[in-house]
Amino acid sequence: MPLEVHTDARAVAMRGAELFLESVHAAVHARGRCGIVLSGGSTPRATYEEIARRAGNDRALWAGAQVFWGDERCVPADDERSNERMARESLLARVPIPARHVFPMRCMGDAEAAARRYEDLIREHLGAMPRFDLVFLGLGDDGHTASLFPGNALLEETERWVGVTRRSSESFTRITLTLAVINLAARVIFLVSGAGKAEALQRALAGDLRAPASLVQPANGDLYWLVDAAAARRLGESG
Ligand code: 6PG
Repeated sequence: MPLEVHTDARAVAMRGAELFLESVHAAVHARGRCGIVLSGGSTPRATYEEIARRAGNDRALWAGAQVFWGDERCVPADDERSNERMARESLLARVPIPARHVFPMRCMGDAEAAARRYEDLIREHLGAMPRFDLVFLGLGDDGHTASLFPGNALLEETERWVGVTRRSSESFTRITLTLAVINLAARVIFLVSGAGKAEALQRALAGDLRAPASLVQPANGDLYWLVDAAAARRLGESG
């Protein structure tokens, strides 16, 4: 499980963009297409912007890319809290990806129905055993990833690929990929930066089940942790 500690958030973004493009080029070259899952939150923005800077004119690459999300807040697509909005602003609006290759999670209204629709979409494009080529994930300061929060029943979900969840501190519902599909991926890349993530990162890497991110263990795939020095400052400490 490659853990890479980089000097700062910008260095994490540079490396994340490099690994993304390496993965997508390899998949498109090998099979003509690449199934990508984008993370929400704020950390990935710099990586997405760097990917757009590097591959903004690469029509062949984006012609083979299919973009999905790992989770979404059930808010309007133009809401500043929307993961779709963040990815469109920082990446998708800056690259020549065909609109028909972008699959936002859109879950306003009946979130359960939205989760079922998203599963159907995944099945339609990736089949009955969906193996995404590349999954970007973030890490919350409580150890969550995607919208898989500590103590949530979705952590035990082995059949469903998309679940509905909610945080008591938030006014909106969320839908999220489950570990059942995340752990089928060929490559998972965590992007983590900032001192606020140090304890969560220590727990996740130590396999502490209080950190749901520790449960991301691709059965037949690569797992990369791209972290900055601030987030890594507690690694090597006990407990
Ligand atoms: C979300 C994200 C979530 C995020 C972490 C880290 O919708 O909130 O998918 O899992 O990756 O909360 O968020 P930051 O990158 O903003 O710290």
